[in-house]
Amino acid sequence: MENITVLIVGAGPAGLATATCLTQFSIPYVIVERENCSASLWRYRAYDRLKLHLAKEFCELPHMSYPADAPTYIPKSSFVKYLDDYIGRFNIQPKYLTSVESSTYDNDKECWNIVTRDIAECTTINFMAKFLVVASGENSAENIPETPGFQNFPGEAIHSSRYKSGKSFHGKNMLVIGSGNSGMEIAYDLATYGANTSIVIRRPVHVMTKELIRLGMTLVHHLPLNIVDNLLVMAAKFIFGDLSTHGITMPKVGPMILKSKTGRSAVIDVGTVGFIKKGIIKVQGSISNIMGNIVKFQCGDEIPFDAIVFATGYKSTANMWLQNGESMLNNNGLPIKEYPNHWKGENRLYYAGLARRGLAGIATDAKNKANDIKSVIGSMYG
Ligand SMILES: Cc1cc2nc3c(=O)[nH]c(=O)nc-3n(C[C@H](O)[C@H](O)[C@H](O)COP(=O)(O)OP(=O)(O)OC[C@H]3O[C@@H](n4cnc5c(N)ncnc54)[C@H](O)[C@@H]3O)c2cc1C
Ligand SMILES: *[C@@H]1O[C@H](CO)[C@@H](O)[C@H](O)[C@H]1NC(C)=O
Ligand SMILES: *[C@@H]1O[C@H](CO)[C@@H](O)[C@H](O)[C@H]1NC(C)=O
Repeated sequence: MENITVLIVGAGPAGLATATCLTQFSIPYVIVERENCSASLWRYRAYDRLKLHLAKEFCELPHMSYPADAPTYIPKSSFVKYLDDYIGRFNIQPKYLTSVESSTYDNDKECWNIVTRDIAECTTINFMAKFLVVASGENSAENIPETPGFQNFPGEAIHSSRYKSGKSFHGKNMLVIGSGNSGMEIAYDLATYGANTSIVIRRPVHVMTKELIRLGMTLVHHLPLNIVDNLLVMAAKFIFGDLSTHGITMPKVGPMILKSKTGRSAVIDVGTVGFIKKGIIKVQGSISNIMGNIVKFQCGDEIPFDAIVFATGYKSTANMWLQNGESMLNNNGLPIKEYPNHWKGENRLYYAGLARRGLAGIATDAKNKANDIKSVIGSMYG
């Protein structure tokens, strides 16, 4: 049993940002990570052509800027390099291959009792921590919706987090399910590698350019959200034209308001829309079931596919190991408390990176948490 001040669960960007902010106040912490490296999402679970979707000014972690000559949209490999530099600069030393199995609040001792497993040694290590920071990510498990007949699909079926590139799919009939940023970009990638690509777009989605999103994110500091939204929607209509004839409809709520209310992001077009307009990528509606290699769509179409990519998002798994978290996390493992109060639970429990607000949200939350922990420590011992 180790007695510690703060335990941080997860060494992704959110855990690292929190660690750095605590270090600024000389608050000791232990950071545990189930994988063999930091930011495993970016190193092992992201496709090759991925760049940060948002401009670099919205993607910095606290206390360290990108190099001045960094491109506006940082490629995956440069982002990983930035995180490695960040870890070095602030001397962050995660305990790797250490997975949190459970954590319960001990009312008598007024501590979090955390059971972790050392994956390499197959041993258990217990921590007693005054403060617990949940930084295990919104993307800790794959979300694959149940589809009748899917078990018997004879081809390859993978989640987007295992997709690297379209190289091995040349000439194949491919179905991408899901129309978020990952799905739209993977469909584009497949098509550029010569796969015969279809994409399932079930619900309305805003399609924007990365420049429009950058403009929108800047304007929201000066103008009301609905005005920014009207501008973005007008501009998107001007740039892309009416996409409803191609199977892409716009949500009724504008992109910035939708993001802030539901966490759903607009899609940033990387060339997919051009391919859709030319018929190179085919748009499909909802699937009703799968029979062998034939996918049946609700519109009645029946099309054979060689492989399927599920770009159907992720789940947080914090609710599986955080006991007495029931009152604090919903079924999706995300905080019940709404923005901007989402980052703080009861009994000195904190959330990092669970507000669907990307790296900018992570940076702000990390500073808030460190300030709060500092003031609680001050009132406990001061
Ligand atoms: C394809 C993709 C592109 C994205 N692009 C952008 C972008 O351009 N801009 C932006 O702002 N955001 C983007 N995001 C959002 C993304 O979620 C954040 O950028 C960021 O990676 C989240 O950081 P995190 O630390 O909260 O979570 P993660 O990076 O998922 O890190 C959480 C860590 O916790 C570990 N962990 C989980 N459970 C346990 C456990 N029980 N015990 C120990 N460790 C555990 C995991 O292994 C993981 O390493 C993107 C996301 C994806 C999937
Ligand atoms: C770390 O884990 C990944 C898969 O999660 C694996 O591909 C890689 O080889 C491992 N690296 C080391 C050094 O063990
Ligand atoms: C490409 O896919 C479409 C269905 O989306 C199909 O109708 C067509 O026959 C496929 N082309 C080839 C060459 O397989």
